[in-house]
Amino acid sequence: MNFYRKHAIITGGSSGIGKATAKLLASLGANISIIARTQTVLEAAKVEIETLCSHAEQRIIAIPADVADQTQAEQAINAAIHQIGPPDLLITSAGMAHPGYFQELPVEIFQSTMAINYFGSLYCIKAALPAMEQRGQGHIVMISSGAGLVGIYGYTPYSPTKFALRGLAESLRGELKAAGIGVSIVYPPDTDTPQLEQENKTKPLETKMITSTAKTWSAESVASQIVQGIHKKSFSITPGVEMTLLAKLHSLLSPGLSWYFDKIIAKARSEKALFKNLDVA
Ligand SMILES: NC(=O)c1ccc[n+]([C@@H]2O[C@H](COP(=O)([O-])OP(=O)(O)OC[C@H]3O[C@@H](n4cnc5c(N)ncnc54)[C@H](OP(=O)(O)O)[C@@H]3O)[C@@H](O)[C@H]2O)c1
Repeated sequence: MNFYRKHAIITGGSSGIGKATAKLLASLGANISIIARTQTVLEAAKVEIETLCSHAEQRIIAIPADVADQTQAEQAINAAIHQIGPPDLLITSAGMAHPGYFQELPVEIFQSTMAINYFGSLYCIKAALPAMEQRGQGHIVMISSGAGLVGIYGYTPYSPTKFALRGLAESLRGELKAAGIGVSIVYPPDTDTPQLEQENKTKPLETKMITSTAKTWSAESVASQIVQGIHKKSFSITPGVEMTLLAKLHSLLSPGLSWYFDKIIAKARSEKALFKNLDVA
């Protein structure tokens, strides 16, 4: 896809991976609609994205909405279409993660994570599709995670939402191909964003020790992989060797990974027990 003068709608476009992708697409000449909840952050992101525009007619708009609310999600997509025109690209990057121990987390965290990550993507896709179908073109990009390929300790509210997106992308792909609409799913590794910073506040030690084995990417590097993947019409977009191997071989790797993670978890537990004993002494 040539992004010049195309319309990209990006949920979660005010921060992290979504904003970095919006900036890159703006520099390639695309018109951008960003959707997120916090108006002040949205407006600041809009100004930041505008500085990268490459031609005078380019339009960047910011639409406040909570994508977990079906009506708000539909209204936001319709407002973007009304102001700029039918979308060539929809990227659903809005998401949250609240790691912790399963038994200590209230059910509401599981519900809100599914509402934002899964249903927030689904509502926007459903709202954008009629305009894409009418023209027989368009591309939908869902942002999953490495935790959508293998379940990760401490991510019980999050992993299932990212697995659900994988199921949606895989089952929707064939259906939309016939209509001329592409589907991609992205499996980002740990990426240096406000979400990761937030996650680190509640991550169990076991999760910290598992995830610290992989390098943390910048949002700009992940955005670059996303844009290249869309350009190549790749279904599965996997930044880095680890995510590429995981996406291709996750079922084969799963027993080995469980064994490896169990070893790290045992190590974390013995460290915690040691600290506890030292505290007591
Ligand atoms: N960072 C990582 O390590 C990592 C790794 C793998 C996958 N991912 C996925 O990548 C995506 C982007 O994450 P990020 O790290 O870039 O996070 P981020 O910097 O925290 O950005 C999240 C964006 O989503 C918006 N958002 C959150 N809840 C929303 C809602 N209910 N309605 C509308 N917008 C909402 C936020 O704005 P408001 O809060 O103002 O609404 C913000 O713009 C997420 O789906 C995340 O799960 C991230």
